[in-house]
Amino acid sequence: MPTKIILDCDPGHDDAIALLLAHGNPDIELVAVTTVHGNQTIEKVTRNALAVARIAGITGVPFAAGAHRPLVRAAEVAESIHGESGLDGPVLPEPTIVPDARHAVDLIIDTVMSAAPGTITLVPTGALTNIALAVRKEPRIAERVKEVVLMGGGYHGGNWSAASEFNIVIDPEAAHIVFNEPWKLTMVGLDLTHQAIATPDAVAAIAAVDTGPARFVLELLEFFGRTYNESQGFEYPPVHDPCAVALVIDPSVMTVVRVPLDIELAGTLTLGMTVADFRSPAPESCTTFAATDLDHGRFWALIVDALERIGDVRV
Ligand code: BDR
Ligand code: CA
Repeated sequence: MPTKIILDCDPGHDDAIALLLAHGNPDIELVAVTTVHGNQTIEKVTRNALAVARIAGITGVPFAAGAHRPLVRAAEVAESIHGESGLDGPVLPEPTIVPDARHAVDLIIDTVMSAAPGTITLVPTGALTNIALAVRKEPRIAERVKEVVLMGGGYHGGNWSAASEFNIVIDPEAAHIVFNEPWKLTMVGLDLTHQAIATPDAVAAIAAVDTGPARFVLELLEFFGRTYNESQGFEYPPVHDPCAVALVIDPSVMTVVRVPLDIELAGTLTLGMTVADFRSPAPESCTTFAATDLDHGRFWALIVDALERIGDVRV
């Protein structure tokens, strides 16, 4: 039985690849896609998500727009990484699917509460605003989901500040809520995703697929590679968000350790830091986990396999 996931995202180059991976892998059933402010405004990331759906041939899955800003702080976007549209590089088609009329928070709650207990995995790849609002509005989702597997944070350091990663630091209060709920939560953070580098080998394997969606991924990686090089000095870009989807597909693609995690809300230099307590083995009662080591070859093979299965889509 495929794992049912709700992808809560802010496309975003790597979010777009996460969406393609989720759609193209037979062990995942995408039951809803929700969008959140982050890489760009909610209007832009929602439009991008719908355009990616058209490129990938995703139909019959509800897409809903969510929070337009963080819970407490002013909105911040990542134009230096994702460009003015949030998905600069490829020319995007006009979306053909119409978003669900519900707010993302309600779509998340309805989907989780109407499914059998323990069957829905939440996969957030953006700020945690929608997820925090959903669990505050309907606290029962905390026991009803299977687990939360998110891209965000990092126990070694940050990318948006020295200590903090973008998805967490742009809405640290939301992250604090989400990390402190009793659900099983796995942080696929920068420690892991900085190993998911789009190396020339990986790019060549994608190019060999030679379909519309594969060419779209190449165009995404070209732009993303340039901005990552200019803004953060990476030789080749780290492709963060599909790592969270990959863990849901195949837990053997990375090593995960049980470790207490919490979010810094008071620090001046460390606001939004994901603090991991590695001092001693975590007790069995600890429900938070962190990803540590990636099987790079296996990860990129999953992306290539998903693109092959998606095939050529008439746009
Ligand atoms: C995260 O920030 C965003 O810019 C990416 O889409 C990813 O989710 C990496 O820090
Ligand atoms: Ca993202």
